Amino acid sequence: METSVSFLSSQYSFEKTIRLINESKASYIHVDVMDGLFVNNVTPFNRNMLDILKRSKKPKEVHLMTLHLKEFIDVFLCIEPEYMIYEFEATTNHENLIKYIKNKNCKVGMAIGPITDIALIEPYLKKIDMVLVMAVIPGYGGQKFLIETLDRIAYLQKIREEKRLDFLIQVDGGINDKTYAYLKDLSLDRVVVGSYVCKSANFDKQIEKLKV
Ligand code: DX5
Ligand code: ZN
Repeated sequence: METSVSFLSSQYSFEKTIRLINESKASYIHVDVMDGLFVNNVTPFNRNMLDILKRSKKPKEVHLMTLHLKEFIDVFLCIEPEYMIYEFEATTNHENLIKYIKNKNCKVGMAIGPITDIALIEPYLKKIDMVLVMAVIPGYGGQKFLIETLDRIAYLQKIREEKRLDFLIQVDGGINDKTYAYLKDLSLDRVVVGSYVCKSANFDKQIEKLKV
């Protein structure tokens, strides 16, 4: 299973955290973006931070927890992400947004909050590249993994198999060595991990524990 590291709650400075992720065995850098509207929290990004992300060796995925999606997409294109992930609940015009992201040459990820009916995203599954299953209420790092997430992953796997689709399934929130034990035998593609890695002295030691 691949690991995407979120630097949202790190014990190190932004610069040092990105350097440590780049030097680690992580597969992706997960860039959480919050606007204080869709979620209460706000993540400030300045030009220097965007430049550092752009220059990073690892591929990036942007996780927008915002309204005004097109504006945020346009801002974060400059870091050249492989995936642009938006929250299903933040818009009603999915067809339009999916096209918009594809036209910018990014893969499309759809994140779904833990209390949204997962069946609602079914019509879009053939058009997107990834589902980000939120295992916490979006907004903060360091929250507890919601166990109901397991049923939601099973539902997506069933549809993916039945309909022979090829979207990735990725889980975000509350992942550590204990909660990973629930996930390791599922055919998940990637996990997002934040505080478990970024609040540790040795990033690779933690990432390794999420691979066995
Ligand atoms: C939550 C964010 C997550 C979060 C993960 O709203 O989308 O990416 O930072 O952090 P941990 O692993 O600490 O839950
Ligand atoms: Zn995230």
